[in-house]
Amino acid sequence: MRALKITGTIGAEIEGLDLAQPISPDLAEALRDALSRHLVLMVRGQRLDLAAHKRLTAVFGPLATNPYVTGLPEDPGVIRVLKEADDRSGVFGGDWHSDMSFLAEPPGGSVLRAVEIPPYGGDTLFANAQAAWETLSPGLRDLLAGREAAHVGKPHGVRWAPPMATRSRGAIQMVRGDPAADEERWHPAVVRDPGSGREALYLNPIYVTRLEGLSEEESAPILEVVRRHTIRPEFCCRLRWSEGAVAIWDNFATLHYAVNDYAGFRREMIRTAFQGPPIAERRIPSA
Ligand code: SIN
Repeated sequence: MRALKITGTIGAEIEGLDLAQPISPDLAEALRDALSRHLVLMVRGQRLDLAAHKRLTAVFGPLATNPYVTGLPEDPGVIRVLKEADDRSGVFGGDWHSDMSFLAEPPGGSVLRAVEIPPYGGDTLFANAQAAWETLSPGLRDLLAGREAAHVGKPHGVRWAPPMATRSRGAIQMVRGDPAADEERWHPAVVRDPGSGREALYLNPIYVTRLEGLSEEESAPILEVVRRHTIRPEFCCRLRWSEGAVAIWDNFATLHYAVNDYAGFRREMIRTAFQGPPIAERRIPSA
């Protein structure tokens, strides 16, 4: 297998693989190592059925379920990310986020496979939250180090529920109006990858409402500065999909964004997520 960097900061295209075949322990190790280095991997031209997709997911960790999205009837752990050609509403994942960061134990990463793609558009953007943390100003690093942030399942709750017009419909059955999703879940603003030791900002604009010790109003301008810094073009890559392509990403070291620019065309993807080390192991001990 060969890894070809997509940008100087994030992402690699992996060549020389047929993931429909059994994955040897050595290959599994090489894939985990590549993910740890590049944070986002894209493997093109694969012909994966559900079993092979789940076998690939298991290379990185046990399958994680998404309690707020209905999975495939034949396999509830697997999500179909579908937008029909006539759906003029928003898309699933159409703002910068880390998947399900409002859960007590968010997934360590995801595996997304293209089944049907539009003739143009529908790309997925990724930002490197490790690079963002490493280059943040000393003042902001002091403010965020050791601080917790509140994550809330906004799209699924009551208080922050998005307007109807911006909600993706497609075939995705999302749980809406659950008051429990409004509960604040506190995670460190900066996390450490237990494998590589690299630290990353763990803040995203969809789910984070405030920083420990600050109100929402006080947190908002700080979170906005951090958001703008994190998605600087130098820290980002853009995955252009092709049929059969599979992307794998690290959910604690990256943010991603599904671009909604393919009106009139159908896009169908299959997504799984895997559990990584728990939050407790990602906490950075105070000095
Ligand atoms: C997501 O997982 O947020 C969706 C990404 C995509 O559809 O490109």
